[in-house]
Amino acid sequence: MKTAVITGATSGIGFATAKAFASLGWRVIGIGRDERSCERARQELQVLISGAQTEYFAADLIHQSEVVKAANKVSAYLCEACEGKLEVLVNNAGGVRSVYTTTAEGYEQQFALNLLAGVLFTHKLLDCLKAANGRVLFTGSNSHKHIRPRFDDIMLERRYHCLTAYKHTKLLGMLFAQAFNRRFEKEHIRAYVVDPGLVNTKIGMKQTGGLVRFVWELRRRGGCTPDLPAQTYVQLASAAPAPEGFYYYRCLERPYSRFAKDEQAAARVFSLCERYCGIRF
Ligand SMILES: NC(=O)c1ccc[n+]([C@@H]2O[C@H](COP(=O)([O-])OP(=O)(O)OC[C@H]3O[C@@H](n4cnc5c(N)ncnc54)[C@H](OP(=O)(O)O)[C@@H]3O)[C@@H](O)[C@H]2O)c1
Repeated sequence: MKTAVITGATSGIGFATAKAFASLGWRVIGIGRDERSCERARQELQVLISGAQTEYFAADLIHQSEVVKAANKVSAYLCEACEGKLEVLVNNAGGVRSVYTTTAEGYEQQFALNLLAGVLFTHKLLDCLKAANGRVLFTGSNSHKHIRPRFDDIMLERRYHCLTAYKHTKLLGMLFAQAFNRRFEKEHIRAYVVDPGLVNTKIGMKQTGGLVRFVWELRRRGGCTPDLPAQTYVQLASAAPAPEGFYYYRCLERPYSRFAKDEQAAARVFSLCERYCGIRF
């Protein structure tokens, strides 16, 4: 039985992706923000898919200490139940913040959640991924096309705007994934970015206020159901041999920003992430 670890697996795209993997007979390990949402999601999966093999771990991924704790639990579980092998890691948890807010470590919260949490989680699960020639799927966004990297103000502390910060974290995530692929080229593990499109979820209504909430409430009505992008994750995870592309939307390889192809920028983001997470790949 193959295993997928999915962050942000309690609602929206992450939950739909957990459902899609479970319905194909994969073991699903979900990560959710707290015990209650994890238990609710786990029970819902059991009801929807009889015999689903699911496990959930709670962690507030804003905090690096919690990312590490959760990854250690997942890693122990994989060693016990899956011979230490992880076929797919889906770094999907994400969010929006209306105003500039920092974590205990001093990082802007979108930067911490949308970028650093996935980097650190990947690092902690690397041995299990290597053991299975695994794949790492990052949830990206088409919005990355509307920004360039801002190395002079990486967390947008000087000129914060919530949507600019969101796009920026998605672009940086792609640059990290590009550098990751270069770094692990010879080790048969590979990163991909999934653009889910506009999806009708509540993402813009959590930890946000006023205008951001209002706009998202209207905008999300034009979005698709999360079950649609879930198919892209499953396809990228299951295809044999491993797909050659990098950026996928609705199961197809798609063009992406030239800024996300810049090798120097990718290397810079990779080492910045290592520094901010206190790790070395
Ligand atoms: N919706 C779209 O149109 C769209 C478009 C492009 C990209 N995306 C990306 O898709 C991903 C999923 O978003 P979504 O639209 O499905 O929204 P969502 O329903 O809010 O899902 C986000 C998931 O991340 C979890 N999460 C948020 N903050 C967390 C934290 N601090 N610690 C642990 N887990 C946390 C959420 O937990 P809770 O259930 O507890 O909130 C939820 O499970 C995000 O990366 C987002 O940027 C979405």
